[in-house]
Amino acid sequence: MKSQSQDQNIQELKRLKSDKNAIILAHYYQTGDIQDIADFVGDSLALSQKASSNSADIILFAGVKFMAETAKILAPEKKVLLPDLNAGCSLADSCKAVDFEKFIKDNPGRTVISYVNTTAEIKALSDIICTSSNAVQIVESLPPEEKIIFAPDRNLGNYVLNKTGRDMVIWNGTCHVHEEFSLEAILRLKKENPDAKIIVHPECELPVRLVADFIGSTSSLLQFTKKDKGNCYIVATEVGIIHQMKKECPDKIYIPAPPIDSTCGCSECGFMKLITIEKILKCLKSETPEIIIEKETLLRAQKPILRMMKISEKLGL
Ligand code: 13P
Ligand code: SF4
Repeated sequence: MKSQSQDQNIQELKRLKSDKNAIILAHYYQTGDIQDIADFVGDSLALSQKASSNSADIILFAGVKFMAETAKILAPEKKVLLPDLNAGCSLADSCKAVDFEKFIKDNPGRTVISYVNTTAEIKALSDIICTSSNAVQIVESLPPEEKIIFAPDRNLGNYVLNKTGRDMVIWNGTCHVHEEFSLEAILRLKKENPDAKIIVHPECELPVRLVADFIGSTSSLLQFTKKDKGNCYIVATEVGIIHQMKKECPDKIYIPAPPIDSTCGCSECGFMKLITIEKILKCLKSETPEIIIEKETLLRAQKPILRMMKISEKLGL
């Protein structure tokens, strides 16, 4: 049950949103209360699509910085707010622009595909962006002989390489949440729940991907649990997605896959969880912190994102 102050916060948020013509976009890894007050909840591809097609003056992004930056790049005329600028991403941090520039120079003649989980500077150095929802299709949209650089997630990169067989050089980055799942704990849970299906985000390490019944982006995992005839799932991605799974199919059972070291027995992205309802309210009131991207970087980063959006639209993704 919501407390009185929570109710007051939500009422005030509604009023501010309407007064300022603002919308709240939230990623599936946000806490349930934030997902419930958002105007739109989605994975990184759907959030980018929504950011580029809405009539709001202000986008308040409940997610991490690279997602808010992508929204700003796609809608530069809008004010994009992120309630806590420390909401970063260990994967985006693993790929610094100076190092990536050298990596591109060391591997000449390759098309540079970067995952959306990167800074605006990395996007500006890339030819096409992808998300976990469309990475395979983006790679397959290129002629078979085209050589590729894929960055920064090595697990997603290897997953795509296995699916497509393309010539890919892969940056050695990982997400601290997805690389930490314990195979032993997942197999123990499977033994205790033999009917459960193991569903896995492609950012997970190979041993975890190998035991998966289904691998997909957050939205694909959600779709899978909706359509699948089974009723129990061991979920190897950030625990926030289970909120939507429960909303969609409340009678099914969802068991969070545990990481190697954990107190909650589940896997949380500390960056995502920096965002709270209180910070969202404060941010919308003051219209800070705002995402600002230097114009030249923004324009250079826009091209590869728009290329991704065009391919995705053509493929109905
Ligand atoms: P999605 O592309 O599935 O939304 O994932 C984003 C992300 O940050 C995964 O860790
Ligand atoms: Fe980044 Fe991992 Fe958090 Fe996703 S879950 S935002 S990849 S640190």
